[in-house]
Amino acid sequence: MVEPIIKIRDLHTQYGDKKVLKGINLDIYPYETFVILGRSGCGKSTLLRHLIGLQKPTQGYIYIKDNNFVTASEKEKNDILKNIGMLFQSSALFNSMTVGDNVALPLREHTPQPDSTIKIMTRMKLGLVGLSGFENFMPAELSGGMKKRAALARALAMDPEILFCDEPSAGLDPIVAVGIDNLILKLKKAFKMTIVVVTHELESVFVIADRIALLHEGEFIFVGTKDEMRRSEVPVVRQFLQRAPDEDDMDKDKFLNSLIGG
Ligand SMILES: Nc1ncnc2c1ncn2[C@@H]1O[C@H](COP(=O)(O)OP(=O)(O)O)[C@@H](O)[C@H]1O
Ligand SMILES: [Mg+2]
Repeated sequence: MVEPIIKIRDLHTQYGDKKVLKGINLDIYPYETFVILGRSGCGKSTLLRHLIGLQKPTQGYIYIKDNNFVTASEKEKNDILKNIGMLFQSSALFNSMTVGDNVALPLREHTPQPDSTIKIMTRMKLGLVGLSGFENFMPAELSGGMKKRAALARALAMDPEILFCDEPSAGLDPIVAVGIDNLILKLKKAFKMTIVVVTHELESVFVIADRIALLHEGEFIFVGTKDEMRRSEVPVVRQFLQRAPDEDDMDKDKFLNSLIGG
C-alpha cells in the first residue's frame, strides 16, 4: 500500500476569535496533482503556509514524508523544505535581482555547485517554463504571466518532490491563465512530482486535478476525483459546479492553447 506523502491531521487555525480551519484531515499521495478549491478568504493560503512551515497552526499536525512539520526543529524544517517548491500567489520574485539570479537563489543557498553549473541549471529551468533567454531581464520587465513562469522556475530549481502553488492563474487574463494551467500539466507529465494547487477557480481544477478537495467554512466538505465531484449531491459542490466549464468550453481552451503554443 502506498503511504501518503502529506498527512494533515485535525488541523485547526484561528485568527483571534475567527476560526478559519476547523479540524481538517487530508491524505495526499505521491505523484498526484491535488487541487484544494474554495472561495476567497476560506483559508487556502493559510493552509499552504502551514504546509511549508511558515506559520504554525493553532492545533493539529502536518506530516510530510513522516516528518512532523509542526514540531520539527528549524534544521529539520530546512531539510524538509529542500524537497519542496512553492509558487506564491504574488510570485514573490526579488525585484532587485535578474530573473536568472532569482531562479539560481535556492541553488546558491542549498547546493555546493560551482556558478558555471548553477548557470546551466538555471537556464534549463527557464527553458522548461518557456522563458529561454530571459535570464538577464529584471522582474519589472516581465508581464504578469511571465513573472508566474519565472517564479515557477525558481520553485522548481531544486527539483522538488512536492510543488505547492497558491492560485497559479489568479489575476491573469484568461488566455495567459490557461497557459499557466497547461504548464503545470506539462510539469506533471514530465516529472515525478506531487503537486498541490490551491485555487478559487473551477476552470483550473478541471484541467489539472487528479483529485480535488473543496474547503468550505473551515472543513473539507468534499474530497474525490473530478468524476466524483461532478456526481456529488452536496449542495455547496453543486453551487461550485454551476460555474464549471462544460466539455465544449474545454475544447475552446484547447483551441486557445493551440494559438499560444501551450
Ligand atoms: N495574518 C492574519 N491575521 C488575521 N486574519 C487573517 C490573517 N491571514 C488571513 N486571515 C483571515 O483568514 C481568512 C482566510 O485567509 P486566507 O488563508 O488568506 O484565505 P484564502 O487564501 O482562501 O483567500 C480570511 O478571512 C483572512 O482575512
Ligand atoms: Mg489566498
